[in-house]
Amino acid sequence: MHLSSTILMAAAGAAAQSTFDLSDLPAFIKSSSSTNWPTLLNIGQQIWNDPEVGLNETHAHDRIVKYFSSVGGWTVSPSAYPGLPTAFKAEFDNRPSGFTGDLPTVGFLAEYDALVGIGHACGHNLIALNGMSAAKFASEALAHYGIPGRIIVIGTPDEENAAGKFKLNNLGAFNGSDVWLMAHPTVTSAIQPMNARLNYFARFVGGTHSEAVSKAYDALDIVQNLSGLPGTSSSAVGIENVGVYATNIVQSIIKLGVAGLSLDTVNSTVSGILDSTYPNVTFSAATDADGVALTILGPGGHASEATKSPLTLSVNTYNALKNSSGVSFYLPGNTSVTELDITIDFRTRYTADLNSVANFASAALGTLPAGISHDVQYPSLEVTPFLGQAFIDIVGTPDYGLANFPATTLAPASTDASWVQDPVLDPVTHELKSVAKAVLHANYGICTNPSGAGCPFNHEPLFKGLANTDFAYQQTEIVARAEAQLAVELLADPSQMAQAVAIVLK
Ligand SMILES: *[C@@H]1O[C@H](CO)[C@@H](O)[C@H](O)[C@H]1NC(C)=O
Ligand SMILES: *[C@@H]1O[C@H](CO)[C@@H](O)[C@H](O)[C@H]1NC(C)=O
Ligand SMILES: *[C@@H]1O[C@H](CO)[C@@H](O)[C@H](O)[C@H]1NC(C)=O
Ligand SMILES: *[C@@H]1O[C@H](CO)[C@@H](O)[C@H](O)[C@H]1NC(C)=O
Ligand SMILES: *[C@@H]1O[C@H](CO)[C@@H](O)[C@H](O)[C@H]1NC(C)=O
Ligand SMILES: *[C@@H]1O[C@H](CO)[C@@H](O)[C@H](O)[C@H]1NC(C)=O
Ligand SMILES: *[C@@H]1O[C@H](CO)[C@@H](O)[C@H](O)[C@H]1NC(C)=O
Repeated sequence: MHLSSTILMAAAGAAAQSTFDLSDLPAFIKSSSSTNWPTLLNIGQQIWNDPEVGLNETHAHDRIVKYFSSVGGWTVSPSAYPGLPTAFKAEFDNRPSGFTGDLPTVGFLAEYDALVGIGHACGHNLIALNGMSAAKFASEALAHYGIPGRIIVIGTPDEENAAGKFKLNNLGAFNGSDVWLMAHPTVTSAIQPMNARLNYFARFVGGTHSEAVSKAYDALDIVQNLSGLPGTSSSAVGIENVGVYATNIVQSIIKLGVAGLSLDTVNSTVSGILDSTYPNVTFSAATDADGVALTILGPGGHASEATKSPLTLSVNTYNALKNSSGVSFYLPGNTSVTELDITIDFRTRYTADLNSVANFASAALGTLPAGISHDVQYPSLEVTPFLGQAFIDIVGTPDYGLANFPATTLAPASTDASWVQDPVLDPVTHELKSVAKAVLHANYGICTNPSGAGCPFNHEPLFKGLANTDFAYQQTEIVARAEAQLAVELLADPSQMAQAVAIVLK
């Protein structure tokens, strides 16, 4: 009775403090972790060992569903959302006897998709581990302290390609909570915004194979040379849609054939272009039935990094040779194809600029493409007031030990968690006015030496190894405990919850 009156007062707007003594909460969560972590860690490692691409994450879904079904106290809904069989929901209610009000609620987001061809090179095994662990620790604390509250975990498939959270959001999957917490492993720790993203898929059709290739390469050249893109920190990166390719990943292998020139001419042209400004790009040249086939290799990486890639070298080779008399180009092994598609990956700091960035590129391409379609945009993610700083304050204490976890304005990559947040910004000042949900997306470092060698960015093939190191798992455990503490504090203290949801649109 006492508890419910506190909560009701807060709901009515009265200033209320937590009535729970949470002074030993960090120690309680630590002991919860020491009991549960070995099982949880094992699931995170199993997901890393069994990478499944977006919408195909059946084993990851089953592993996490099985976990929550086995630990007791959770209501688990496997394949809970139509059209998304690898999404799930798990819910834990703590309703102390006598408490009759609505339970305050905090949700956690768990991603578990891998990248096409390169496994868990974005560390989503750790995102799943973080979400599961934080939710489990928080649920035990609610029961231990008698705090009325609800914890929800939503398993969110396909972050990388087709915006799984966009589809879940349309199904109302996030309506059950105004607060959603998650954490993403990367090279350095920061509470920070994330860029807006949109992919254009442009088709190039030729009367002949070489005409289609020339059109596509003319287009790739135009995209590569674009300057003066509107918006803030805007970029456009080309991807050639042949063989194994994926949006969001820099291609690590490109093949381009040159007909009508000698091996020596082609080889020396490419050698003359390839210099140290291409990080770790190499090539080989060999004659085949159609001419000289170039195979260009590079480290790949995140499409948000505008590094000089194998595709860049192929475009610059095309440019250097295209005016030579009698020359034509082909795709080794694909010479019967007369349509070639490319993806153009647009990123910009603010969602409102995304269409003008894309229109700018379309105008530059003119009538070259036979058609252009596009995918679902990822809006920008903004730093939600209160949650970011509250997390930084917790994780910096000696119980967690991640001092100097900064808040920065630098916006790396993009995330479909922005669909959960759905931020509304002032169009002129870019001030954050409101959000649909309060979302914490803590980016945390998993490199022992972030500025040294051996710390590749997400989506580089070497990031996969990082996502399975002891250090990465240790960092994930710390961040999961800190998010558990944040969740419990929000549920126990209506005044903190009120601050967290202050700009949530009702
Ligand atoms: C989806 O998973 C199944 C087995 O779980 C596998 O055979 C299939 O190749 C996967 N599809 C993709 C696109 O990876
Ligand atoms: C979720 O909330 C939104 C916004 O209030 C509402 O439009 C939508 O109908 C809700 N969806 C479900 C499934 O409850
Ligand atoms: C793009 O820039 C390169 C030099 O950097 C130049 O050779 C090429 O002609 C340019 N292409 C276009 C379409 O402007
Ligand atoms: C080119 O060939 C590869 C296999 O060699 C195939 O996977 C790819 O789909 C082909 N591309 C096109 C545009 O047909
Ligand atoms: C290409 O040129 C390099 C020197 O620039 C040489 O080492 C290499 O053997 C040549 N490759 C072929 C296939 O001729
Ligand atoms: C090139 O690869 C090596 C070995 O993998 C790595 O240490 C180095 O940092 C890479 N250089 C660049 C510029 O990516
Ligand atoms: C190729 O020709 C076009 C015009 O026909 C010219 O703009 C371009 O600079 C030439 N490129 C090279 C590498 O000579």
